[in-house]
Amino acid sequence: MKPSDFYGAVQLLREGQLVAFPTETVYGLGGNALDETAAKRIYEAKGRPSDNPLIVHISDMKDLEVLTKEVSSIGRQLAEKFWPGPLTLIFKKSDEVPYGTTGGLETVAIRMPSDPIANMLIRETGSYIAAPSANSSGRPSTTKAEHVIEDLSGKIAMIIDGGAADIGLESTIVDVSGDVPVILRPGFITKEDLLSVIGEIDYDPAILKRSIDNNMVAKAPGMKYKHYAPKGDLIIYEGEMDAVIMAINKAADEHRRTKEKIGIIATDETITKYNYGVVKSIGTRSNEKTIAAHLFSILREFDELDVNFIFSESFQDNNLGQAIMNRLLKASGYHIINV
Ligand code: TXA
Ligand code: MG
Repeated sequence: MKPSDFYGAVQLLREGQLVAFPTETVYGLGGNALDETAAKRIYEAKGRPSDNPLIVHISDMKDLEVLTKEVSSIGRQLAEKFWPGPLTLIFKKSDEVPYGTTGGLETVAIRMPSDPIANMLIRETGSYIAAPSANSSGRPSTTKAEHVIEDLSGKIAMIIDGGAADIGLESTIVDVSGDVPVILRPGFITKEDLLSVIGEIDYDPAILKRSIDNNMVAKAPGMKYKHYAPKGDLIIYEGEMDAVIMAINKAADEHRRTKEKIGIIATDETITKYNYGVVKSIGTRSNEKTIAAHLFSILREFDELDVNFIFSESFQDNNLGQAIMNRLLKASGYHIINV
């Protein structure tokens, strides 16, 4: 990227325009967080319901005092340990933060990204940047500039290309506005990581669900919407590895006659075991980071191929695997088959 582009982006943000930029988690669709018109533009560009609040990105610990009414000691401990990094914290908002940014809520989500481009962009703009993931509402989050172009080209002023996002899944969200902190969205920073700093933490029950339950309302408004959905029907197979492979092969084979296009999400360990369909490895089970990094891009690759069905292996539901399974389950509409 030429320096002139970078300062062009700074200028556009100052004018209330939208700029997509890389972060260590996924690409963000940025606008000035204190400008309600910019927030409106963000909702429009994404096609996102405006009751779904935006995360405010900061570059300095001092920014917390400006944007929040109070910072609990737990909130401060977590910020000091994990910022800059893939953790979003929810605080009671100050009057500085417009309701247009928080979707009408009295709380505000704040994150200090570690990506150097993101960090410098916030710093140079001299404000705070509201940024949801830079995808069209409902589609997989974007982990490369090409994905952002697919979804938002023509709808925003600029896209900064910073290469592939390191982590590939959105930040962990923890609500620290109440007495006991609550994980609202699992991410790269795991429950175990958080418990190394603080004594107790709860899960929003909606995270742990394994099937659609319409009575369960997620506390992060965005978690209630259908999400990350690929165009084809995604079905997850869970069980002993050999049984999973057999079941996926059987399901794929049943579509051989109908000539429907099949995609299979395998791993480095299993990729040679499938007989029919487009088989892609999402990464290696010996390093879950590789799986997290490719999850959204593999869903988009299958969209490009216009597959009718995607059959996926499942992953261990702990540590980083919890965030991976959370996104995969949502992408499938909780379509999981136990074998
Ligand atoms: O990694 C990330 O968090 C990325 C990068 C760009 O920073 N951003 C991101 O934003 O994932 P978004 O808008 O796609 O997801 C933000 C989530 C939504 O589910 C939203 O409902 C929730 O955070 N959220 C935002 N403010 C909230 C609040 N005050 N209370 C509860 N949930 C909130
Ligand atoms: Mg999002």
